[in-house]
Amino acid sequence: MSYKSHSHAQWSSRMAFVLAAVGSSVGLGNIWKFPYMTGESGGGAFVLVYLICIFLVGLPMLMSEWLLGRLGQKNPISTMGDITRRLKRSRAWVLIGVAGILGAYLILSFYSVIGGWALAYIQMAVVDTFSGLDNDSVGTLFGNLLASPVELLLWHSLFMIMTIGVVVGGVAGGLERAAKTLMPALAVLLVLLVGYAATTGAFAEGAAYLFTPDFSKITRDGILAALGHAFFTLSLGMGIMMAYGSYLSDDVNIGRSALIVVVMDTVIALLAGLAIFPIVFANGLDAAAGPGLIFQTLPLAFGNMAGGWLFGLLFFVLLVFAAWTSAISLLEPLVEWIEERSPLSRVGSTIVAGLATWALGLATVLSFNIWGDFAPLGMFDKFAGMTIFDLLDYVTSKLLLPLTGLATVLFVGWFMGRDELRSQLNMSDGAFALWRVAVRFIAPIGVVIVFVSSL
Ligand code: PHE
Repeated sequence: MSYKSHSHAQWSSRMAFVLAAVGSSVGLGNIWKFPYMTGESGGGAFVLVYLICIFLVGLPMLMSEWLLGRLGQKNPISTMGDITRRLKRSRAWVLIGVAGILGAYLILSFYSVIGGWALAYIQMAVVDTFSGLDNDSVGTLFGNLLASPVELLLWHSLFMIMTIGVVVGGVAGGLERAAKTLMPALAVLLVLLVGYAATTGAFAEGAAYLFTPDFSKITRDGILAALGHAFFTLSLGMGIMMAYGSYLSDDVNIGRSALIVVVMDTVIALLAGLAIFPIVFANGLDAAAGPGLIFQTLPLAFGNMAGGWLFGLLFFVLLVFAAWTSAISLLEPLVEWIEERSPLSRVGSTIVAGLATWALGLATVLSFNIWGDFAPLGMFDKFAGMTIFDLLDYVTSKLLLPLTGLATVLFVGWFMGRDELRSQLNMSDGAFALWRVAVRFIAPIGVVIVFVSSL
């Protein structure tokens, strides 16, 4: 008996599918978050742990989400509902879908504010703000932006409107077609920036910082951060990839496609690191500057290179594009959920979901200025000094995503039959065995160890 409904839409081609998955995964996580986390967590050791997490946990988990989605052919909650019913498993697994929607909502609320920073930097590039900047003035420029709730609010609102606009209009297809040329353009621009970094005189230092692990610098929290970021950057643990998998036709090779997405995502992140750290060291900046890192280093480079005006403009435009394609994938789960459970139309659901996300985003906007000293959970040592933005980031990347991911691999690894999995994964016996070991043992044990030791 077939439990698939073939009326469900499918990807026009494997290429379109891989592209959409890359569009979701490559975003602020690669270019904004990865470098600053590396800088905060001490460099090479963090990068190494991150790479291990990506390939041992992220890759098998991405395959698991796609496989579940393709089996269920529905939204993540209904998919888990159908599969658990058919396999006579507990309905509690449906919580995977629920936690995913919550995670996506929380993430988009701050993601949009950071997307807004990138928009603000496009405007700065247009009026040639970067030329001749020095160490202090890049800091002031960024500081002034954060200090203004009104400015942050406007850019956050604009980014949210752009996101809602695409999801309402269902023009994601158009955006994806644009992404087909813009993503490679982003990669090319990053390579050019790495080329610029090579002229700063600190390229070797920057590269060594990224690729020479110094294990004395990594903490347990750093390891948890690396694990959480592996989920974040690959859009895992949120039902998003599961939803993408539901549109996947049977002949697409899940393993190979997953490998392509993971490698592209990783290469973009490493290129960003290679572009940024030489600039940091050449100018005596602080690698541990935090979330402002790329906004304080790259303008320095643009301001001091020939044609920097154009490069700066192009870079921030492409960054916004990358963030935009990720943001639409973050809004989609909530929209689908509202649409299904309420009388609202697609447009109505999108507007409600978008407004709710925008409203929560206000808390992040204020975290950088008026509420800068407000630490809601400050009474607990672990959360001392964390603003609402810090907490949203912590709760999603370090709690929700790893836990949802853990539940997903446990379900696939231990509660689904080997034969069914085998028939879904068109790969050699050796590769399949390896994947299964990763899903049954390596990923869950890894997540549990990292988790417990950091708590
Ligand atoms: N993966 C995206 C990035 O790296 C962010 C994202 C997370 C998108 C979760 C969708 C879901 O920027």
